[in-house]
Amino acid sequence: MNQYVIQGGKALAGEVTVGGAKNAALGILAAAIMTDDDVTIENLPNVNDINVLLEAIAGIGATVKRIDAHTVCISGRTIRSETVDSEFIRKIRASYYLLGALLGKRGKAAVAMPGGCDIGARPMDLHLKGFRALGAEVVTENGFIKAKAEEMRGTHIFLDLVSVGATINIMLAAALTPGQTIIDNVAKEPHIVDVANFLNSMGANIKGAGTDVIRIRGVNRLHGSTYSIIPDQIEAGTFMCLAAATKGDILLKNVIPKHLEAITAKLVEIGAEVRENDDSVRVVATKRLRSTQVKTRVYPGFPTDMQPQIATVLTLSRGTSTVTESIFENRFRYVAELVKMGATITVEGNVAVIEGVERLQGANLEAPDLRAGAALTMAALAAEGTTTITQIEYIERGYEDFEGKLRELGASIIKCPINDGKSTIGGIA
Ligand code: EPZ
Repeated sequence: MNQYVIQGGKALAGEVTVGGAKNAALGILAAAIMTDDDVTIENLPNVNDINVLLEAIAGIGATVKRIDAHTVCISGRTIRSETVDSEFIRKIRASYYLLGALLGKRGKAAVAMPGGCDIGARPMDLHLKGFRALGAEVVTENGFIKAKAEEMRGTHIFLDLVSVGATINIMLAAALTPGQTIIDNVAKEPHIVDVANFLNSMGANIKGAGTDVIRIRGVNRLHGSTYSIIPDQIEAGTFMCLAAATKGDILLKNVIPKHLEAITAKLVEIGAEVRENDDSVRVVATKRLRSTQVKTRVYPGFPTDMQPQIATVLTLSRGTSTVTESIFENRFRYVAELVKMGATITVEGNVAVIEGVERLQGANLEAPDLRAGAALTMAALAAEGTTTITQIEYIERGYEDFEGKLRELGASIIKCPINDGKSTIGGIA
């Protein structure tokens, strides 16, 4: 088990290139098995979630050929099973996209029920509602979700609430389902649009992704494609907040500024300078920032996956801020860790009230989940003194070479085994 050892207190400056979007790639890799032709996916982020899903795809017999760290060639021609081994769903929830892909392609699928996660209960009722509406029989038994359909037909589905996962999973199942499927009240995140664009590049007929209603006309088969994943809006937002938290100056390359609008608006509101170009943004925050109110919302609102990061920035801002988490019911577990560093935050229900402090002190922390781990790393880089962060496996699920990119920006950070007392940064153990 590894940890980060961080020597904080420096303003981070320089350039960072943002990788491919993890949450788009997960849906796209599942969709790739829906054709018997070869599919080449480029700009894949080289992170654990992606690698685990590729193992799950190989585990059902699909052909997976790594071209390089960011490129893979997949073919569903050799699939020999519709049952996804439970070890893969235990490691990453998004293996459940194979349900929609296998149901759509082969009329049958079985995936272990994903564990309740660290940010909330995260049920799958809407996914199953969609599959049933398309004509599949879906049961949960022995910890597995089993779906099968003699024949599926297009239908009209209204999602009770906006769900990224349900939108993608139902879109996958409907792509090869005869007739028209209309899905109402869908998620509009950039990664939804990317999955739809990828399916259309394979010959699917999907319209309306990015709006409230997606219309799908099922096609008989999907063909091969070569496709490049969009840049990761949340990795980009994390580095934007890092510049704000450390009073730095960071240029982010390979971004789509439109996808960052809510994050940019919030940073500008609190006094950061954000300069946009076609495929880059530069964030400069050389003075102490102001307080504000943040409410997480579905896209295009402020992303829940950026909630711990903006809260960390506001921990150091002048005045009282509030952060309201309206998507997940348990996404403040990082607050106790920030309080160890001297932050003044109280959480009541789904609202965190933050009294800004001048500075944070280094401490020994534990990452509770992926985005919180990134936020604690930001806090440690802004703090005075030395911080250790354990459970960094969470961070490695969604950020490629996080410590390497941070060091490029001047950060004093090393990754070392937890029991290695000899690890030092500049002589500090
Ligand atoms: C996706 O999770 C992302 N994960 C999450 O990112 C992200 O936080 C979330 O969307 C919201 O943007 C991936 O894409 C792999 P939801 P997902 O279905 O699909 C409830 C990260 O850090 N709900 O949009 O699971 C659910 O409980 C991860 O990269 C139901 O009630 O999120 C939640 O309250 C963390 N029933 C809300 O909807 C359902 O059937 C939104 O969840 C499905 C969801």
